[in-house]
Amino acid sequence: MRKKLIAANWKMYKTPDEAKTFVKEFIPLVSGQKHADIVLCASPTLLPAVVDATRNNPIRVSAQDMHWMDQGAYTGETSPLMLKALGVTHVLIGHSERRQYFNETDESVNLKLKSALAHGLTPIVCVGELLAERESNQTEEVLVRQTSIGLSGIDASAAAPIVIAYEPVWAIGTGRTATPEIAQDAHRIIREQVAKILGGEVAAAMRILYGGSVKPDNTGSLCACADIDGALVGGASLDPKSFAAIVAGSAV
Ligand code: 13P
Repeated sequence: MRKKLIAANWKMYKTPDEAKTFVKEFIPLVSGQKHADIVLCASPTLLPAVVDATRNNPIRVSAQDMHWMDQGAYTGETSPLMLKALGVTHVLIGHSERRQYFNETDESVNLKLKSALAHGLTPIVCVGELLAERESNQTEEVLVRQTSIGLSGIDASAAAPIVIAYEPVWAIGTGRTATPEIAQDAHRIIREQVAKILGGEVAAAMRILYGGSVKPDNTGSLCACADIDGALVGGASLDPKSFAAIVAGSAV
């Protein structure tokens, strides 16, 4: 049985005060639920405030990216050591916006994934095809490539913490959610690929989240699919009531 994981990706939104207000309003709305792990992925400037506001609470805090090196002359970057020192437990790796606008590649995803595991940070590795790739029937090829290069060189014995997020790029911020059938099919492809690389046992235990226009009213049908283990939520995670409704909706 894989426990659901519902993650908020706030992208480049909120100030520290707004983040604190969110957490204050959000905690009572989810305090009774036990079926899902909850993670808030915030910009580096918000992380201390969010870690502080979620202290003594099972909610976990994630960065949205990191460098793979411990330290060095990399202006503007954040290292795993810096995240660990703040009390951050998770890190998004290879979000499509990083791939699209900031030259993230499958190779850099792989370096970051290895670094996150070495530092005890839980990696949430994002994969997903562009609209043009889907329309030219390349979805499977893209997912297999992203998953294989992303996971290459990882030892099965160290892979347990890894979470994968399938985010079809055409569904992000568009209101055009993948149907449960489309999403399930992609998740199955990813899980089969994980099984080829890391073995069936690791693949069966690995959580694969869906992301792309997740809203309170479509969470249930997505999370009911056999290979969908939660959601990575952008726009609908910025409001505490909406995000709490998504957490509630994932109990299927
Ligand atoms: P939206 O939920 O706004 O479509 O964003 C999805 C996403 O990119 C989460 O990482």
